[in-house]
Amino acid sequence: MRKIIAANWKMNKTRPMAAEFAGQLAMALKEGTPEGRLALVFPPFTDIAAVADAFAGINNLAVGGQNFYPAEKGAFTGEISCAMLRDAGANWLLAGHSERRHVFGETDGLIAQKTAFGLEQGFKVMLCVGETLEERNNNQLNGVLQRQLSSAIQPLANGILSKSPDQIAVAYEPVWAIGTGKVAGPDEIREAHAAARKILSDLLGNSYANSVPLLYGGSVNAKNAGSIIALDNVDGLLVGGASLEAPSFLDILRA
Ligand code: 13P
Repeated sequence: MRKIIAANWKMNKTRPMAAEFAGQLAMALKEGTPEGRLALVFPPFTDIAAVADAFAGINNLAVGGQNFYPAEKGAFTGEISCAMLRDAGANWLLAGHSERRHVFGETDGLIAQKTAFGLEQGFKVMLCVGETLEERNNNQLNGVLQRQLSSAIQPLANGILSKSPDQIAVAYEPVWAIGTGKVAGPDEIREAHAAARKILSDLLGNSYANSVPLLYGGSVNAKNAGSIIALDNVDGLLVGGASLEAPSFLDILRA
């Protein structure tokens, strides 16, 4: 399976900053990304068009939206639609990121609605899951993954996901590792990914579940990326802080 190296810029970069980054990436990757790698950038909405323009025509470089509202259009002040994101050049979406869950209070129910809507609109959706430190300390890892994955995926198992098997990816991002510099250890990543894969198999069947890319995110940087991406069952990385500078992101992409 090709490995996905994704940058989540969160609420960082004005348009000129985004254009500079995207230009550096496009220049470095004009012959293509390293073999078997997809580079994916989730910029803030106002930067998407600039990044997509810089990436146009280069293989294996893609752009996504960090958030969206699950309705075609209407009276949803402050929200953004899938059509708007597509028009700006995005073809991936994030759903269930821990900051959406824990800072903005998004529920499993809303995340399930968003996942279904994004897929129906023809986007690839990266569904993020992961436990808090308290949940980990209370031995709730499996239960949290089960709840977060099944609420979003179960309703789609016999519907859209049975028709479009390559539309979904899952990112395991333990909340305690995000932005803390405390990267999960290899055994912790292996254990969580194996648990997530088993849950996906129960929901979707073995062969389908094995084709869903399973990414790790949480304090990934250029130094630790190589050892994490080499782990069994790790099909990619979702990078926050260390994705903000092009040279650092390129090092991670090449790790
Ligand atoms: P950091 O890499 O900054 O820990 O953020 C991870 C993340 O939340 C990516 O979505």
